[in-house]
Amino acid sequence: MRDDADQPVNPYRSPAELTEHLDLALDQQGQSVERVMDVLADLVAATPRTTSKRFYNQLFGGRDPVATAADMLVPVLNSSLYTFKAAGPMTVVEEVVLERMAEKIGFPVPGAQGTFTPGGSISNLMGMLLARNEACPQVHDEGMGGVRFRCYVSADAHYSVSKAAGVLGIGRSNARRVPTNDAGEMRLDRLAAMIAEDRAEGCVPGVIVATAGTTVLGAFDPIAEIAKLAREQAIWLHVDASFGGSALMSPEHSDLLDGIRHADSVAWNPHKVMGVPLSAAAFITRRPDLLQRSLDEAAGYLFQGDADRYNPGKRSLQCGRRNDALKVWAAWKHHGDAGYRDRIDRLMGLAGHCADRAEESVRLRLVVRPAYLNVCFEVTGKSSRQICDELRSRNQLLVGHASVDGRTIIRVPFVNGDLTIADVDEMLDLILEVAAALPHGENLVVAPAA
Ligand SMILES: Cc1ncc(COP(=O)(O)O)c(C=O)c1O
Repeated sequence: MRDDADQPVNPYRSPAELTEHLDLALDQQGQSVERVMDVLADLVAATPRTTSKRFYNQLFGGRDPVATAADMLVPVLNSSLYTFKAAGPMTVVEEVVLERMAEKIGFPVPGAQGTFTPGGSISNLMGMLLARNEACPQVHDEGMGGVRFRCYVSADAHYSVSKAAGVLGIGRSNARRVPTNDAGEMRLDRLAAMIAEDRAEGCVPGVIVATAGTTVLGAFDPIAEIAKLAREQAIWLHVDASFGGSALMSPEHSDLLDGIRHADSVAWNPHKVMGVPLSAAAFITRRPDLLQRSLDEAAGYLFQGDADRYNPGKRSLQCGRRNDALKVWAAWKHHGDAGYRDRIDRLMGLAGHCADRAEESVRLRLVVRPAYLNVCFEVTGKSSRQICDELRSRNQLLVGHASVDGRTIIRVPFVNGDLTIADVDEMLDLILEVAAALPHGENLVVAPAA
C-alpha cells in the first residue's frame, strides 16, 4: 500500500453513485468471508486516499509505517485503557508518552498528568470542564444554577470551544470571541477589556482558551502574555495546541508556543503533524488532582486495586477506551526526538517555499505570511471555491477553501511528511493551470440575508 502516496486521492463519485456501486446493505442472511472481503476491497478502492501526496484537505495526511503497524496491533490485543488489570503495560506506555509530551510543554514531570482522548475537540472540552470546576466547584455536583461563567477564545479558534460551552452547560453565548489582529492572533487588549467588562457585570471569567496553531491561518495566540494576564486574574488557561503542539518538537520553532509551560492544561494531537493515524490526541494538565476529582466515579466492578496512577479510567471521560498511545509511542521510539525535529523543520521549509512562490507570483495573493504550516492564498480574479471543486472533479488535488476577512481563500496545510519541494511546485502549478481555464470568479463572501 506504500505507493498510494503517489496515487491520486480518488475520483469523485456522489453518495448516490457509491451506494449504487457498493454492496453495503445488511441483510437477514449473512455472506461468505470471501464476499465480505470483496466488498471491503471495493470500499477501500472507493475511499479518498488521505495518504496521497495530493491530499491537502485536512490537517493530517500521509502514513507513518511504524505507527500504522503498531496501531494494527490494537484491535488484535483489544485492550481497554481504563485499568492496569485489563491493559497491563499499555497503561505504562500511555504514561510514558504523556510524560514526554508534558516535558516538551515544560510541565513538571513527575506531576503533570493527562489522558489520550478521542480528539482535540474532547481535549478542549476537558480543559474547559476542569476550568469550570476550579472556578465554580459547586457546579460539578449541583449544576450551573445562576452562575454566569465566561470563557474567552479567539475569533479564529476551532468550533469545538463553543460546542464544549454548549455541552458543559456554560452556554455557547458565554464563549466570548476575542477579535484577532491581521495575523490571526488573539488581541490581548480586547481580551483584557472583555474580562474587566464581565467582572463589572457580575460574571465569572473562568477560562481563556488560547490557540496555538489556528485551523485556517495557523496563527499562534501570544501565549506568554495571555498566561501573565490569566495569572494576574486567576483565570484558568487552556491552550488548544491540537495543531501547533508538534512545533514543540523543534527547538528552532518551539518559540511559537513561548509561555505554554504556564498553562493549566493543553490539548495536543499527534495525529495532525506527527503523521500517526487518527485518532491520537492528548489532554495534559499540571493539575492532576482536579482532573481526577472532575472525572473519577466509584465503580467497584471495574477499579480493583493497583495505584490510581495506573488506572487511567479515573482520569478519562470514557469508560472503555481504545489504546491510541501505542502508535505514538512506536513512532517516537523509531524516529526519536531528532526525527521529529527534522520533520517539523522540513515541513516548515515547505510552507515557507509555498508562501515565497505565492508572494512572487502576480497571479496569486498570499493572505498572510504563514507562522506555521498553513499557506492561505487566492488566485486573482478566480473563485477559490470553483478552483477547489474543479481540482476535485478532475481528481488532481483535494484541497479546501475557507473564509478569511470576508473572502474565500484556498488553504494548503503542509502536514504530510512525504512531501517534497517538487510536490509543492507541482501543486501550485496545477492550481494555476486549473484556475487559468476557469472564467472570472469572485471571492467576496456575501453575508446571508437576515
Ligand atoms: C485548532 C484545532 N483545535 C481542535 C481541533 C479538533 O481536533 P479533532 O478533530 O481531533 O477533534 C482542530 C481540528 O482541526 C483544530 O484545528
